[in-house]
Amino acid sequence: MLMTRRFGNEDRDIAVAAKMLRNGEIVAFPTETVYGLGADASNPGGIGRIYEAKARPRHNPLIVHVCDIEMAHNVAEFDPKAALVADRFWPGPLTMLLPKKVGSRLAPAVTAGLETVAVRFPSSKVAQRLIRAVGFPVAAPSANLSGKISPTRFAQVLRQLDGRIAGIVQDDACDHGLESTILSLIGTPAILRHGSVPQEPLEDLLGSLGEVGEPREISSPGQFRSHYAPEASVRTEVCEPTANMIWIGFGPDCEGCRLTLSTSGDLEEAARSLYDVMVEADLLARADDVIAFAPIPMYGLGRAINDRLRRAAAPR
Ligand code: TXA
Ligand code: MG
Repeated sequence: MLMTRRFGNEDRDIAVAAKMLRNGEIVAFPTETVYGLGADASNPGGIGRIYEAKARPRHNPLIVHVCDIEMAHNVAEFDPKAALVADRFWPGPLTMLLPKKVGSRLAPAVTAGLETVAVRFPSSKVAQRLIRAVGFPVAAPSANLSGKISPTRFAQVLRQLDGRIAGIVQDDACDHGLESTILSLIGTPAILRHGSVPQEPLEDLLGSLGEVGEPREISSPGQFRSHYAPEASVRTEVCEPTANMIWIGFGPDCEGCRLTLSTSGDLEEAARSLYDVMVEADLLARADDVIAFAPIPMYGLGRAINDRLRRAAAPR
């Protein structure tokens, strides 16, 4: 059992947290999407500790977070298309899958031994300051136990990881509340995971994108394996809830719902509240209760929300 240190977002706090990262310890920190669990991406010990603390399968690689374009170019190969995407969407909630730079100092376990690397330049100022203070990219998965709900608040990180990690940097709730979109630029551009940047603006820039692949040897987290899951079981597309259901509405036509993702039917609000609402519904649920979500439209952020709901509802 570790003593998990709490950090604020003062320069002094960030400096101590960065030092711990450089020493191979792991520290959770906020980003504009969800909280990440960080390690210095050049430090094999730190990377190993991430997999242990989350009970994450070792073949599931990590996203590498940078605080500027130059740092990104030190770990990944950018072709003109990648440069175009970076120019348009960075900093922000978009992760690009690119060829790993030969000779980069990334610990091999960051990419689970692959020759590709997932790179993200977050817009969160706290995240940027922490990475800059480390002086090297920070590898970070979401700061939850593997398969559980991603935390968008300090208290949710504590609930899952207190005593398992060296520290947590505290900040306001995450702006987007949903993970980054993962865009592969290996071969035909394709979305590997829907997320906080919708498909439409990416297609405006790149033309039509490849399909999200069925799980092959390695893909984004278990496409149909249970993931992002509350304790209670989950149903989707429910319009007429039964007695044992905690019904979660979307839009104005869900009279009688216990909770809602957005009463006005706003997809950004729904994305932001999704994981919070899952946590809250789990607290309300008694044995055999089912968390039941009203239908969510399949455009814009609705694709990412539906993806998370489908995985939360997948067989355990
Ligand atoms: O918003 C986010 O992306 C958050 C914050 C902390 O940045 N991070 C996040 O990380 O969601 P994680 O580990 O929960 O999800 C990243 C996904 C993993 O499922 C992994 O399979 C995929 O990215 N990934 C990472 N590197 C990859 C690679 N080289 N090839 C294929 N997939 C990769
Ligand atoms: Mg995750």
